[in-house]
Amino acid sequence: MLTEDDAKNRFDSARIVRESFVQQVRYHETIDSTNDDALEFCRNNPCPVPLLVVTSRQTAGRGRSSNQWWSTTGALTCSLVIRPDDFGIAEREWPKASLTTGLSICLALDTLAGEQEVSLKWPNDVWMNRRKICGILIEVGGRRPAPTLVIGIGINVNNSFSAAPDELREIATSLVDTTGTVFDLTEVLVGVLGELERQLVRLRDGDRQLAAEWQARCALRGRSIELKLGHEKFEGICLGIDADGAIMLQTPVGQERFFGGMITQIR
Ligand code: BTN
Repeated sequence: MLTEDDAKNRFDSARIVRESFVQQVRYHETIDSTNDDALEFCRNNPCPVPLLVVTSRQTAGRGRSSNQWWSTTGALTCSLVIRPDDFGIAEREWPKASLTTGLSICLALDTLAGEQEVSLKWPNDVWMNRRKICGILIEVGGRRPAPTLVIGIGINVNNSFSAAPDELREIATSLVDTTGTVFDLTEVLVGVLGELERQLVRLRDGDRQLAAEWQARCALRGRSIELKLGHEKFEGICLGIDADGAIMLQTPVGQERFFGGMITQIR
């Protein structure tokens, strides 16, 4: 028999279409990676967008670089395919899509767990109380009839880390772990999609306040960090995120800004 908590981990595709800007949902009980499915589907089909690929169990989730994204039942793992042209978002703005998505998730999490500290860890993570609660992976999809972006989102919702190894428990968390509440995944997803739609419109409109909000949410500001870019490593005090989405570092030789790279140390 389905318990009340099991029911909250199910996805209601009809509600997602009814209550968000999503035109079509592709639901899979199990799939290797929702990003891979979205990329593949849009390559071979004229897909109605926004299209959402969502699963209850992702077996080979991908993160940035060659990282893996590990998740269990109760996590929210999905990929949203959008056509930036439909939003009027120019290609030069695409690099800002990751922070825009991150901010959307921060705002949605504020609504669900307002008393927790929710921040952006440049360039593509969301932290709750300084532990990772969400990872974002944005990839460019098919370009015909118009270019698409695949926005992969993994949010730890009802998947508890309480039994996870110490090293993971120290760096990751979930909504259920921080609040003690089991959430309805469809409800969380609809909230995230609503925020994403609003923030994409702000990106299109060149809303300057958007960058001010990334800056205010920057989890690394004031921290001494190490950033690896290719084979090079850079160290400095993080000054925050600028209006172009770059991370700013005060290094021993002056101020530098980076559009990519991996944060390898936070002190
Ligand atoms: C990261 O932390 O580096 C990004 C992780 C992104 C994980 C999500 S889960 C849904 C989507 N499908 C994937 O294979 N990856 C993204």
